[in-house]
Amino acid sequence: MSLYAIGDLHLHFQAELKAPGQLTDPVWRGHEERFFKICSEQIHSSDTLVLVGDHSWGRHLDECEKDLEYICSLPGRKILLRGNHDMFWDAKKTSQLNALFEDRLFFLQNTFYSYKDYALVGTKGYTFEGPFYVTRSGAILDWDREKEAQAQKLVEREAQRLRTSFEEARNAGFRKFIMFLHYPPTSILEKRSVFTDLAEEYGAEQVIYAHCHGETRFHDSIQGRFRGIQYSLVSGDFLRWNPMKILD
Ligand SMILES: [Fe+2]
Ligand SMILES: [Fe+2]
Repeated sequence: MSLYAIGDLHLHFQAELKAPGQLTDPVWRGHEERFFKICSEQIHSSDTLVLVGDHSWGRHLDECEKDLEYICSLPGRKILLRGNHDMFWDAKKTSQLNALFEDRLFFLQNTFYSYKDYALVGTKGYTFEGPFYVTRSGAILDWDREKEAQAQKLVEREAQRLRTSFEEARNAGFRKFIMFLHYPPTSILEKRSVFTDLAEEYGAEQVIYAHCHGETRFHDSIQGRFRGIQYSLVSGDFLRWNPMKILD
């Protein structure tokens, strides 16, 4: 029995692919088959796989049916987090999705799921991603302050959702936590954030996040041990489609 995580499958069995530049990297070629094969070989029916957002390019549920069926067909218990591209998933209607995929997929929003004596908590998260004004050598001179203020409002809303998730778990008696975000916990301007503070406040053992694609983005945020917590990036292209084992 093991816990695995990976993010950013960006499936498009139905939806027309309007891929941003980074998704044209060769690592994305045939990634659905590659990922399915790896999962079939490594993941057992008693395992749990957390999919950390950006599941589908489809904008509506009827454009995602085949993508979600593909996810259903992967081995193990599948827990899904919302990503910024998951337009099919209205956060306020998560209970409808859970009813529709009852016992097949578990959509995590304002709640938690258990794994042994751990609570798996999380939310999409958010972080300021620019625009930044940089020199030719890449040093940041300044950034768009208005966009930063707008981002801060989304950060606060997501931090509240994360707190709800932690509180639900704590009220249910859990004291050990693994925390999941789709967005990285810090922006490239930050060393710490409200998300790292929440991880520390509740004593999360690990923080798992995705969203960062391509060599130029893989090191946008924290990786490794920071203030007693293990931080891991699990975007699919970063892991080359090998799900990361989080716990035995
Ligand atoms: Fe993504
Ligand atoms: Fe994303």
